[in-house]
Order: sequence, then structure tokens, then C-alpha cells
Amino acid sequence: MDKPHRQFHILVEGQTEETVVRDVVEPYLRARGFWVTQSILITRRPAGGSWNRGGVTSWAKVLGDIRKLLRNSNLDLLTTMIDYYGFPADAPGMTDRPAAGPLERVRHVEAAIEAAVGPRTRAIVPVHLYGQPVDVDGVMAVAARHNLLVVEDAAQAHAARYGNRRAGSFGNAAAFSFYPSKNLGAYGDAGIIVTNDDAAASRLRLLRNYGQRVKYYHDVLGTNSRLDTVQAAVLRVKLPHLDRWSAARREAAKFYTNEFRRLGLEKMIGLPIEPYADRKMHNHHIYHQYIVRTSKRDHLRQYLTEHEIETAIYYPLALPEQPCFEYLGHKTGDFPEAERAARETLALPIYPEISREAQQYVINCVAQFFG
Ligand SMILES: Cc1ncc(COP(=O)(O)O)c(C=O)c1O
Repeated sequence: MDKPHRQFHILVEGQTEETVVRDVVEPYLRARGFWVTQSILITRRPAGGSWNRGGVTSWAKVLGDIRKLLRNSNLDLLTTMIDYYGFPADAPGMTDRPAAGPLERVRHVEAAIEAAVGPRTRAIVPVHLYGQPVDVDGVMAVAARHNLLVVEDAAQAHAARYGNRRAGSFGNAAAFSFYPSKNLGAYGDAGIIVTNDDAAASRLRLLRNYGQRVKYYHDVLGTNSRLDTVQAAVLRVKLPHLDRWSAARREAAKFYTNEFRRLGLEKMIGLPIEPYADRKMHNHHIYHQYIVRTSKRDHLRQYLTEHEIETAIYYPLALPEQPCFEYLGHKTGDFPEAERAARETLALPIYPEISREAQQYVINCVAQFFG
């Protein structure tokens, strides 16, 4: 396949008609040498909300024409993003790239998944990392286009919401971890899989219990993955408190973010984003982790350790860099975003009971480090 180079994401509001974009806008872009992904992304404006309008670039002529094309079809161009895949940083036009706002960054995920789908792809495993639901609409749209299964990794996202639904309720199945450090943690190892697929549920029940439906009659080779009764009892007591704990984590996260912003530290460290927060309906982050990003990550971590603040790195290696995946033959640079995240991300202390004083101390130390 030719290397994709220029990619347009176009978000259109109102009663969208995919065919208009496919038949009118796509050919227009292709004729001008643009590589167009599977199809241009179309997103409905959320009920009662508005999209974050992205900046218009010096591609003004192209965009203007697209606007006209859309307007003729009673559609509005709300925001655009131009991406360059596999182009060097000094490629012509690179400077025209508009600064990616939160929504654009989220939308980028859909295009990235789309680009990764190949003939052998069977399923997407989106990870609601740190407690932030992924762009579920984007994932499900790609899955629908390619007839793929979706298995959500909701290990860090208990009760996080996307729209009016909870993480773990979108795909064919989802896995939750109740490892003790999780937002809903047992007193030892525990976890569950949820699914609304009866056949999958039956198969999973079989596999978790040595492959036996009837005691000592083994239909298939299984394993022992039963939830320990004591752990179940602990989880049952804790579950009713979960939403309150999530709310406390969100409050703590808000405090960090507001203070970092007030001190102008936003320029130094990347703060967690809640891309849809302004619409109050989407992406309800439950802050299993409060992650900041900086190229000085290791030095900052060292500084905080010296000041008795424990931090953590989730995760020091991108998945393809793990020794167990060496055999896949990936090389550094194949997954630039994941590799960069592995170098830049740092988890600051967060838990429902964290005091504002403790947070203030963390904030002061971060400010001192950059000051
Ligand atoms: C994102 C994510 N996926 C999967 C897991 C695995 O969960 P468990 O340790 O319960 O098997 C964890 C936690 O360890 C996790 O954070």
C-alpha cells in the first residue's frame, strides 16, 4: 500500500449523509492528491452540545471548497485536522498543521485504528487507560466497518462513563480487574468478564472451571479462574461506594488540574484532558491514575522521590518494546506515540481520600522543579 501522507478528518454536523461525503468530498480530495482513509469521518453533533471548533489553516482554499461542497448538501464543516503519516517533520506544509485540540486528538485515534486494520484483524481491544474511556464511537465505527469484534479492557475504568453508558458495556465483551490497587479492588487477585453474548458467556464459564460443565466431566481443556468467594464478599461490600470514590477522584483531579493551570505549569507538563467534558455527557474519566507528561519525566520523578512523593510510570515500555514481543520484529519508531508516552508519562498520587494539603505539597514540588 502506498504510504498515506495527507489525511483529512472532517466532522460534519446535523443529519449527515455519508454518501455525500464519500461521493462528493472524497473524490474532490483524491483528485488533489490527498490520501483519504477508509472514508472521511463523519460525526453527528451531540444532542444539546457543540463541537470544539478547530482552527482553520492555510489550506484555506481547500477547506473553503469543501465547505462549499458540504453546504450545497446542507452539511456544515465543523473542524478539520490534517495529518501526515510517514512524512519527515520538515515535509512541505508540515507547519500548516493546526494545533491538535482535545477533540482532534481523540478523533486521531479512530484514524489510527482504521489505518492499523489489516486482512488478518479479527478484533479490537481498546484499553480505557487510566480510567478514561476511549473514543467509543470511533472504535465501534471502525469495528462495524470491518466486521470486527470489540473486547474492552476496562481493568482501570470501573464505572467510568461514556455518554450515559459505562465503560465495559459497548463491545462484545469486557474485562475488569479487581487487583487490590484498582478503583474497585479486592484483597487479592480477582476480576470479571462481562458480555451480552450468550455463547461467549457459556464458553467462558466452561473455560474458567477446568472446562467442565458437570463436575469431573471435562469437555475442553480449561483453567481455574474462579472468583474466590472471600474476594467476592469484599467486592460486594465495596461496590456501593464506587461512584462516591470515583467522584472524589474526579474532585482531586480537578484540584490538580486547576492549580497546575493557575500556576502556569500547563506549559511545562501535559495535563490529562477530558475531551468531551464540556458536553457533560461524554468520557467521564474516573482517574484511576492522574497522568502528567513531560520530556523531563525522569528528572521530575527523581525530584519528587527526593521529596518523599511516590510516583509511578505506567508503563516504562510500549507493548511492542516488551521482550516477550521481540519475535514480532518491531523496531524503535514503529509506534512513535506509544514509545513517546512510555518516556513522558508520570502518575502523580491520587486516591479518593487524598487531602488537598497532600496535593498542594505535590503541586508545590512540581512547581519548584520547573521554577
Ligand atoms: C489496563 C489493564 N489491563 C489488564 C490488567 C490486568 O488485570 P489483572 O492483573 O487483574 O489480570 C491491568 C491491571 O493489572 C490493567 O491495568
